[in-house]
Amino acid sequence: MIKNLSYFGDPILRTKCKPVEKITDEILKIAQELVDTVTAHNGSGLAAPQIGYDLRMFVVVLSDQVDKSGNPYDEEPKVFINPVITRASKEKNLKSEGCLSIPNFYEEVERPREIDVEALDINGNLFSEKKLHRWRARCIQHEMDHLDGILFIDRFSEPLKHRHNQALQLLEMRFKQARTIQGDPFKQKGLK
Ligand code: NI
Repeated sequence: MIKNLSYFGDPILRTKCKPVEKITDEILKIAQELVDTVTAHNGSGLAAPQIGYDLRMFVVVLSDQVDKSGNPYDEEPKVFINPVITRASKEKNLKSEGCLSIPNFYEEVERPREIDVEALDINGNLFSEKKLHRWRARCIQHEMDHLDGILFIDRFSEPLKHRHNQALQLLEMRFKQARTIQGDPFKQKGLK
């Protein structure tokens, strides 16, 4: 089922999410909602708080492999439950990011270049992905942040924060106002 997205200004995006204690039918339903919603929005990844749940789970679509032009492939959406980044390289790089909860806003953010990650799959089995260093590494770090109430705009350099401060305040205010309308404010207001 495709769920409405939570937008910038919604308190759930600033919540530290709770671990999933047991993989119940409810958790499986949420996993499917993450997959359906990220697919519907053609997203790279999506975290549970972005569809209204304060739980430590997300879905990732982007591959760590790239085509000849350097663009990442999409893979089958994979759900990560209680994910942990077990290693992050000291070396960092800058890549452009966006977020379904802050539509049409892209900017470069610095993060560790390479990571290892561990998580449970929807069957409750532990799996790991190692030496991720392209877009999937980037996407997983972005989604991990969502589980701790952190947005990519929080990781802007000082000059970027300064440059976008006013625009972001306006956006947050607009989203907060729109949230009083039931459903997806962007669809209803023709903003999307
Ligand atoms: Ni995001």
